Amino acid sequence: MNMPSSGAQAAPPAFSFEGVNKIFRSQDGGEITALHDVGFQVRQGEFITVVGPSGCGKSTLLRILAGLTRASRGNVLLGGRPVTGPSRDVGVVFQAPVLLPWRSVLENVLVPAQIQRRDPRVARERALHYLQLVGLQGFETKYPSELSGGMQQRVGIARALVNDPMLLLMDEPFGALDAMTRETMNLELIKLKERTGATIMLVTHSIPEAVFLGERVIVMSPRPGRVTQVVDVDLPGARTLDLINTERFGAYVSSIRANLDASGGLD
Ligand SMILES: Nc1ncnc2c1ncn2[C@@H]1O[C@H](COP(=O)(O)OP(=O)(O)OP(=O)(O)O)[C@@H](O)[C@H]1O
Ligand SMILES: [Mg+2]
Repeated sequence: MNMPSSGAQAAPPAFSFEGVNKIFRSQDGGEITALHDVGFQVRQGEFITVVGPSGCGKSTLLRILAGLTRASRGNVLLGGRPVTGPSRDVGVVFQAPVLLPWRSVLENVLVPAQIQRRDPRVARERALHYLQLVGLQGFETKYPSELSGGMQQRVGIARALVNDPMLLLMDEPFGALDAMTRETMNLELIKLKERTGATIMLVTHSIPEAVFLGERVIVMSPRPGRVTQVVDVDLPGARTLDLINTERFGAYVSSIRANLDASGGLD
């Protein structure tokens, strides 16, 4: 498990994008520019959130960092090294949970640990721990078809955590959850980050969620996705739910909403 470093100043960024472009070739032979000149750096142990309209390239950004898609141009560095493919130090929660239907909940969570050949006993313990954390205690032997969409998504979250990744990438992880479970998961995620010192990048459609979780919020424009604003969220004290009703919190949300409206609006 990685610990928060005391000499944070000297540490290289957890990851960085520099002049990143991504062009997809569409079925009809045309080109789609998904990302245009994206650049930002994220500190070790930082919680960064990304907000922007549908189709602006958020998932593409996350997939490039996870080593699942290549940038067309520019540099993407993870711990100072170019990303060349998936890394064991990176956990990914996908927008859709993509579980293996023939494996039980516990066996699904164990997949990354088995790929990395972790000690099965330790991995099982961690899997059970994270299943409890996401509120799925008692469902370990169930199969994905027996779960609701929100429960499947929570299995995906436990699976991303099972190897204690240094970097956790989350693509709208709470979109399918009801409001109350979503709030609980937000608070659990903050606790988890404090406990592990992991760096987290979370993509969301929700401006309040981006402000509540993020130490900084990256705001993106509609396609071709560009970074239009990087907001330092300077909120005093612990992130607890009563923060949401404060004037300061509301001011951050309004400012980001205004920026998104100016660049083409949030869906
Ligand atoms: N494999 C692909 N082939 C062709 N085009 C793609 C591919 N993946 C993404 N795109 C295009 O790139 C753009 C950005 O897609 P992306 O999935 O990154 O958006 P997003 O911001 O995550 O949207 P959403 O909020 O709806 O999830 C879209 O216009 C999409 O059509
Ligand atoms: Mg997406």
